[in-house]
Amino acid sequence: MVLPVALPPEYLSLCPPELDRRIGAAKRALGERLVILGHHYQHDEILRYADFTGDSLKLSQLAAQQSRAEFIVFCGVHFMAESADILSGGTRAVILPDLSAGCPMAEMAEADDVQTALDELAALAGGAAIVPITYVNSAASAKAITGRAGGACCTSSNCRAVFEWALTQKPATGSTDVKILALPDQHLARATALDMGYGLDDCALYRPRLPNGGLTAAQVRQATFILWDGWCCVHQEFTVEQIAGRRREHPGICVIVHPECEISVVQAADLHGSTEQIIAAVAAGSPGSQWAVGTEINLVNRLTRLHADRRVLNLADAGGKCAMMAHIDLPHLCWALENLAAGRVVNRVQVAEPIRRDAVIALERMIRLKGAADASPAKR
Ligand code: 13P
Ligand code: SF4
Repeated sequence: MVLPVALPPEYLSLCPPELDRRIGAAKRALGERLVILGHHYQHDEILRYADFTGDSLKLSQLAAQQSRAEFIVFCGVHFMAESADILSGGTRAVILPDLSAGCPMAEMAEADDVQTALDELAALAGGAAIVPITYVNSAASAKAITGRAGGACCTSSNCRAVFEWALTQKPATGSTDVKILALPDQHLARATALDMGYGLDDCALYRPRLPNGGLTAAQVRQATFILWDGWCCVHQEFTVEQIAGRRREHPGICVIVHPECEISVVQAADLHGSTEQIIAAVAAGSPGSQWAVGTEINLVNRLTRLHADRRVLNLADAGGKCAMMAHIDLPHLCWALENLAAGRVVNRVQVAEPIRRDAVIALERMIRLKGAADASPAKR
């Protein structure tokens, strides 16, 4: 376990041009030994230093492909850096410039609780197989249980393809019935189940703090999707009223939201999709088209700037900021890179070998699924 090292205070007093000069110098000194990956929710002032940008899926794939670099500096949150470490086999040092950049949703599914859920559901399911599908927004230990239990990871880009794969798995019990335990985000799972033609009655909510998740055997047997009671505090803030407001202000506007929004919001929107799918949809819009986008504000602001010939608005008048993504700022990036250039690795994210060995199974199953990242958002 690597203890977080505090940012030396002198970095906080550096002005942006000085930070820019020093980050540029450290990057040049490290050359091809360094790759910087940046998630779309990062601020532009960080993404301008990224060698590659992407959503969770694309960044996982890119991390797996970095065979030349010695260091991967991840501008994102902790679970993304863990995935990069797992997929690079621990052979490259993965650095998260601020180790306190953790996703609250990832912490909603603790490994022990996931194992308990699998045991409880197996006892209630009447011989049906329970296949865990774990959103990459999760701890490495939850991914490891998933790999061991015959499940896979998913991202918001490929959740449907992974669910479809899961439902083809054959239970060892000889029963033909398969159920998905989807964790930790209930909203992504519910929206995906509905996209696949299932109804709300096919979904049951598992509350990890209650015995048997608060479910009866009858409820488990009726459900195809058992949804972990987890959520994203950023996307859960978007509302149906905001959609109605944008439609009133701008008749004809196309509303597109991330599937981490509540199902009522997803249903009221015109389109929903992962960050990569949202970017593609707005880019494919015609000049003069209007968009209200329900996702993290840094991405929405970037789309507004990139497409000056369209009206691209945040769905909400205010908010939509992921405070955890914002932990990665210029002082932390500068400090991490200067240490690397001086031969010191700070804030390395390293997954312990027994966890890595099982978690990689779940991540690689996801990456192997062909056609998993359909670039077009789903319609309601
Ligand atoms: P993507 O899978 O769209 O990158 O989403 C990641 C995320 O954290 C959304 O809140
Ligand atoms: Fe986690 Fe939500 Fe932030 Fe994504 S936007 S990193 S799910 S808190």
